[in-house]
Amino acid sequence: MWVLIWAALLLSLTERTTCQNKDPAAPINITFSPAEITPQAGLCAVIPCSFTHPDNFTAHIAIWFKCPDARCSIKPGTDSIFHSKNSSKAQEGYRRRVSLLEKDLTKKNCSIIINDITKTDDGDYQLRLSGSFNSGNRSKLTSPEKVKIAVKALNQKPSVLTPPLTEGEPATLTCTAPGICSGTPPNITWTWRGTGDNITALRDNATLCKR
Ligand SMILES: *[C@@H]1O[C@H](CO)[C@@H](O)[C@H](O)[C@H]1NC(C)=O
Ligand SMILES: *[C@@H]1O[C@H](CO)[C@@H](O)[C@H](O)[C@H]1NC(C)=O
Ligand SMILES: *[C@@H]1O[C@H](CO)[C@@H](O)[C@H](O)[C@H]1NC(C)=O
Ligand SMILES: *[C@@H]1O[C@H](CO)[C@@H](O)[C@H](O)[C@H]1NC(C)=O
Ligand SMILES: *[C@@H]1O[C@H](CO)[C@@H](O)[C@H](O)[C@H]1NC(C)=O
Ligand SMILES: *[C@@H]1O[C@H](CO)[C@@H](O)[C@H](O)[C@H]1NC(C)=O
Ligand SMILES: *[C@@H]1O[C@H](CO)[C@@H](O)[C@H](O)[C@H]1NC(C)=O
Ligand SMILES: *[C@@H]1O[C@H](CO)[C@@H](O)[C@H](O)[C@H]1NC(C)=O
Repeated sequence: MWVLIWAALLLSLTERTTCQNKDPAAPINITFSPAEITPQAGLCAVIPCSFTHPDNFTAHIAIWFKCPDARCSIKPGTDSIFHSKNSSKAQEGYRRRVSLLEKDLTKKNCSIIINDITKTDDGDYQLRLSGSFNSGNRSKLTSPEKVKIAVKALNQKPSVLTPPLTEGEPATLTCTAPGICSGTPPNITWTWRGTGDNITALRDNATLCKR
C-alpha cells in the first residue's frame, strides 16, 4: 500500500517537473484590454497590451501576428505584421504602418499603433514575446488570447473654423482632421459654394497641411 502511494506521489512530482521544463515561459502573462477594438477606416488603431514576467526574465523581441484563419495557425515567416528587432520580417503592407507605443520592452508595455486602417485590417491578432532568463536560457511565448480588430466606417467629421469674412480681405480658414494618428497626412480638398448651387474646388495654395 505505502509503496503504491509513494509511487503515485513520485510519478506526479516528476510529471509536474517535466511539465515546467517543457514550458519555461509559462509565467509570462500577456493581457489585451480591451480584447476587441473598433477603429474607423482611414484613422488609426491602438491595441493596448501589457505583460508580466518573473524578475529573472528579460523580454528582447516583440512580434505581432495577424491570424490567417479562425484557429490562428500562425506561420512566423509570413504572418508577422511587426517585429521589434527587424522590420523586414513584417508583412509588406504593415511594415510602415505599425509601431510600438513604448519602445522600451522593460516597461512591460506591448501596445501598438496601426496607422491608415482599412477594412482589410479586420481580424484577430496575437503577440509573441521572446527573451531570456538570467540563467541564459532563452524562451518565447505566444499569447494564447487574441485581440480582435473590427473596422468601422469613418464617421468622424473634420471641423472647420471660419473667421469673420471681409470683402476684399484674405482670410484664413482652419480645418482640423479627425483622429490623432501619426500616419500619412489626410488629403484635404477645400470647396467653395457660391450663391448658386455650383461647387468650386479651390486649388493651389489651399491645401496647406499642418499637423
Ligand atoms: C494575467 O494577468 C491578468 C490581468 O492582470 C490576471 O487577471 C491573470 O490572473 C494573470 N494570469 C496569470 C496566470 O498570472
Ligand atoms: C525564474 O524565477 C522563478 C521564480 O521567481 C523560478 O521559479 C524559475 O525557476 C526561474 N527560472 C530560471 C530559468 O531561472
Ligand atoms: C531581417 O530579416 C530579413 C528577412 O527575414 C533577413 O533577410 C535579414 O538578414 C534580417 N536582418 C537582420 C539585421 O537580422
Ligand atoms: C503604454 O504606453 C503608452 C504610450 O506611452 C501609454 O499611453 C499607455 O498607457 C501604456 N500602457 C500601459 C498599460 O502602461
Ligand atoms: C537551461 O537550459 C539547460 C539546457 O537546455 C537546462 O539543462 C537547464 O535545466 C535550464 N535551466 C533552467 C533554470 O531552466
Ligand atoms: C490621397 O492623395 C494621394 C495622392 O494624390 C492618393 O494617392 C491617395 O489615394 C489619396 N487617398 C485617399 C484616401 O483619397
Ligand atoms: C453652374 O455650372 C453650370 C455648368 O457648369 C453653368 O452653366 C452655370 O452657369 C453655373 N452657374 C453659376 C451660378 O456659376
Ligand atoms: C502657400 O502659402 C504659403 C504662406 O503664404 C507660402 O509660404 C507658400 O510658398 C505657398 N505655396 C505655394 C505652393 O504657393
